[in-house]
Amino acid sequence: MKTLLAYSGGLDTSCILLWLQQHLNHEVTCIYADIGIDEDHKKVEEKARKMGAKDFIYLDLKNEFADEYLVALIRSGARYQNKYLLGTAIARPLIAKKIAQTADQLKVDHIAHGATGKGNDQIRFEQTLSYLVPDINILSPWKTWDFKGREELIQYMSKSGFSYSESSSLYSIDQNLFHTSYEGGEIEDLEQKSEIFSNKSIHHTKPTTNPPSKTLKIGFKSGLATSLNQTEFPVLAELISELNSLATCFSIGWIDLVEDRINGIKSRGIYHTPAGTILYYALDELKAICWDHGLIRLGQQLSVDFADLIYDGKWHTTQSKAIDAFFQSACQNLTGEITLELSKGSIDVTSRKSTFSLYSKALVSFEEDPYQINKLSEGYVKTLCLPSKIRSQSEAPNESQQ
Ligand code: ARG
Repeated sequence: MKTLLAYSGGLDTSCILLWLQQHLNHEVTCIYADIGIDEDHKKVEEKARKMGAKDFIYLDLKNEFADEYLVALIRSGARYQNKYLLGTAIARPLIAKKIAQTADQLKVDHIAHGATGKGNDQIRFEQTLSYLVPDINILSPWKTWDFKGREELIQYMSKSGFSYSESSSLYSIDQNLFHTSYEGGEIEDLEQKSEIFSNKSIHHTKPTTNPPSKTLKIGFKSGLATSLNQTEFPVLAELISELNSLATCFSIGWIDLVEDRINGIKSRGIYHTPAGTILYYALDELKAICWDHGLIRLGQQLSVDFADLIYDGKWHTTQSKAIDAFFQSACQNLTGEITLELSKGSIDVTSRKSTFSLYSKALVSFEEDPYQINKLSEGYVKTLCLPSKIRSQSEAPNESQQ
């Protein structure tokens, strides 16, 4: 039997690699998707091969992740439960799609993944795989083997002749180009403040202790960020990397969230989405000047739906595609420049500029009135408020009867 294993090099997938060979006698090919993970994939490959992997497939998906998935996410402004910028959830359909395509090419009998039975990722992976390769069997060893937790997995590895060195991390960490998320360890205690915020270095950058504030000008073309302080970035993944470093110095983009998982379990996560937080903020400012009230409201409503779909692993659905098409169309006029001031932990807007801006100083100004709005408004306001008069009259006799 041939199995393709979604392999990260961590404890869980390493044990699955051994277990599939030892218990099921499967021939295992590992597939490793790089979506901006901060590690040396050559070492991961070496480890997998030592543990018996028949082959190791490395896929560099950073650009596809940025150009097809993050673009859609950022322009929608989707946040799950009002806060979470969906950094893990948005990566899963891409990874699962690549696994499905590779499984098809290699003609494997099974696809295996290391997601646990308690989390969201099992559902996200399996939603995409069920849609793209409905006839390939999915193995999810966390549901069938007898190991109860990480301690037993570490023992299993050492019994099989391998050591697990990364156990120094207390947390379950998921990292990609867009975010780093932490679960487990002391985070599970809701009454305890997390220590992660203050001291973590991410994407090779550490927060600066007292950074002097800094001006940042972001250029957008049709909702896509294309420049930082007038330097053009034709490659979005590179713009995001640059912005990640900058935002991390200013400790921007951290949240501490208790969320509802798809299965209803509440869990707490600490998320760091540095560039994403800045891009969401800046694009909201551009929407505020280029979109009218109705479009802003529609955008907000659809972004809530889009967030749920992404969180629930329903990326490859007609509903998701339709919502994405809305944002693609609505964002056509989001071209302009937003200037921000970054200081420790906060973002402020200092300038908004777009040739598509709907803002008119002449209309709003207290100083001038070229359109005679003060005069014109008299009849308009009276007409608008007539229903209030009628309501008042209709309620008055009824009230006196009480
Ligand atoms: N709760 C988040 C989600 O479901 C993140 C999950 C992965 N993060 C982790 N640290 N294991 O999208």
